[in-house]
Amino acid sequence: MTPDLNSPIGIFDSGMGGLTVMAAIRRRLPDEALVYLGDTARLPYGTKSADTVTRYALQAAGALLRFDIKLLVVACNTASAAALPALREMLAPLPVVGVIEPGAAAAVSAVPAGPIAVIATEGTVRGGAYVQAIQALSPAMPVVQAPAPLFVGLAEEGLTGGPIAEAVAARYLGPLLDTVPRPRGLVLGCTHFPVLKDTIAKVAGPDVTLIDSAETAAVRVEEVLKEKGLLNPGPPAAPKFLATDAPGRFAHLGEIFLGEPIDPGAVALVDL
Ligand code: DGL
Repeated sequence: MTPDLNSPIGIFDSGMGGLTVMAAIRRRLPDEALVYLGDTARLPYGTKSADTVTRYALQAAGALLRFDIKLLVVACNTASAAALPALREMLAPLPVVGVIEPGAAAAVSAVPAGPIAVIATEGTVRGGAYVQAIQALSPAMPVVQAPAPLFVGLAEEGLTGGPIAEAVAARYLGPLLDTVPRPRGLVLGCTHFPVLKDTIAKVAGPDVTLIDSAETAAVRVEEVLKEKGLLNPGPPAAPKFLATDAPGRFAHLGEIFLGEPIDPGAVALVDL
């Protein structure tokens, strides 16, 4: 089958966190049909090697291709960092949008004089994908980065504000933002971090601009669909959800990230 205007956008992530990207796409492009795959059986990706994450990402993309998607969004920062070239090669000529390049571009345009700080998973930080993407746009830009793994657990527990979340944010952001010269932009380089945005903003202080890669990825999706003449005039089909394990848990926790309830009956179990 050849995808057409009504074909869905495929979105995938290691789990539920990428629903923050799906929410941003829904707000920006309400007429698009969306199919979301969360690889909940193999979450987290952030602590795994780049080779393993690439293998998982190619399998997830293969499952979404069966829905005749017209564009793939790699909502997971770790998978975007590790697997984008392999995904683009496998899916060509289908467009593939990751979250790193749009996040880097937004950071450089929000804080052109820098410095820029990045928080992400261990895997994303290790590969240096944000540093490379930012410096590809602005070669002299100072970039500092740090992993913030506990934010993932806090987000999944719904502990997005209050003393525990603030203490963890202070622990991660303190050393990073105390770098001299002080960073003026902070990239939220992980799917889970946007739900902690208010706490992160409070701890970072008003002189630090937060850059949310979910919002910027949605802008990029719109640009690509426009460029390719693939925008759906609507009305959209209902969104579909796929999970590789525990669809009930996906629906329950997914609400935190999507910002609206997910009917457990609408989440299908898939095997990759
Ligand atoms: N989705 C991952 C990311 O954005 C966070 C969770 C994980 O480690 O799998 O990097």
